[in-house]
Amino acid sequence: MSISSFLTKKFLKSLFFPAHNRGAALPKKLVKLLKNPPGYWDLPELPEIGSPLSQSGLIAKSQREFSDKFGAKGCFFGVNGASGLIQSAVIAMANPGENILMPRNVHISVIKICAMQNINPIFFDLEFSTITGHYKPITKIWLENVFKKLNFDENKIAGVILVNPSYHGYAGDLEPLIDCCHQKNLPVLVDEAHGSTSPSSLLLSSCEESIRDWLNKKSLSKYQKRILEAKSIYKKLIQKNIPLIETQDPLKIVVNTSKAGIDGFTADNFFYRNGLIAELPEMMTLTFCLGFGNQKDFLNLFEKLWKKLLLNSKKSKSLEVLRSPFKLVQAPEIEIGIAWRSKSRSIPFSQSLNKISGDIICPYPPGIPLLVPGEKIDIDRFNWINNQSLCNKDLVNFNIRVLET
Ligand SMILES: Cc1ncc(COP(=O)(O)O)c(C=O)c1O
Repeated sequence: MSISSFLTKKFLKSLFFPAHNRGAALPKKLVKLLKNPPGYWDLPELPEIGSPLSQSGLIAKSQREFSDKFGAKGCFFGVNGASGLIQSAVIAMANPGENILMPRNVHISVIKICAMQNINPIFFDLEFSTITGHYKPITKIWLENVFKKLNFDENKIAGVILVNPSYHGYAGDLEPLIDCCHQKNLPVLVDEAHGSTSPSSLLLSSCEESIRDWLNKKSLSKYQKRILEAKSIYKKLIQKNIPLIETQDPLKIVVNTSKAGIDGFTADNFFYRNGLIAELPEMMTLTFCLGFGNQKDFLNLFEKLWKKLLLNSKKSKSLEVLRSPFKLVQAPEIEIGIAWRSKSRSIPFSQSLNKISGDIICPYPPGIPLLVPGEKIDIDRFNWINNQSLCNKDLVNFNIRVLET
């Protein structure tokens, strides 16, 4: 039996996590969204949407709205379950080799990240009920006793993790506990996740079905047909003198916009405004991703818009590939992990010449960093990144974290 067939199984009552009772208690707007044709809502990081780490876009706006509502400095959505977010928070709290104080009932995700990052857990035990065998919530007196037992000079603590409520739903009064920690200048991470479930069966079954699809002869012949259609689109565009670049992937249409004196970002902007959304703009090219959908209407639409673009945009003769500043073999001046965790300050990129980066500078797409932590922003790199800002507005007047010297 496949995962997807089991997902349709009916139970008399479903009293397990995730606790939306097989969709019945999902937010109404989400239910409405999921009624759309499957996959319709599966959009990438379009400028309007952004990502959990970007400063603009709908995700950033929504995160800001919630952090304001909760009186928090920040809010980050995550799709790797609570585990992914907890692990990020643990990494933010302690460096490798440092200690975190935590109760014995922490979730496995905490332990795994400690093991991976070489962060030392210092466990404290919890009071438990002799009737149920369950851990009881932590009281202020209990935590004070833990602190008394700890030799803070010997065990330098980077922070404290608390779990509240517990899996069964026991919850204590957090405020006095957090006050206790703050009095010792210890940051506190409260794991309030219980019963979210990151190994989502729905997403896992999508892995299974997507792979199974490739083993199915009927699907395979459909995909082969699409590849032939894509090859024919490429040929016809070439016949119409549209400057395409040949790659080994027939499902990508890479337009060499620079041949027409137009940079890929300007072209992308134009197509975007006209409803034809590409995948990857670059200085010299614009890449469209045909995928396995039926793209028969692409040819005419693209040709029409391309002609309009040629008529309407300013041409530049000086478009040229920016020479990369990299040596054939090169490691960052300072170890990447050390630079990433070092004290840094945020300054305008224009003032960063000859400083060591503590940051990753990475246009997305394609998600390939221009600069990584520990690398020196020497004159070649400085000019290279500066020149990219002529076309990429994310690289205009941006700030970068550089190491304190
Ligand atoms: C206290 C606690 N933290 C973290 C997690 C991990 O959540 P997820 O499965 O969403 O990664 C759980 C899961 O049950 C949990 O109970």
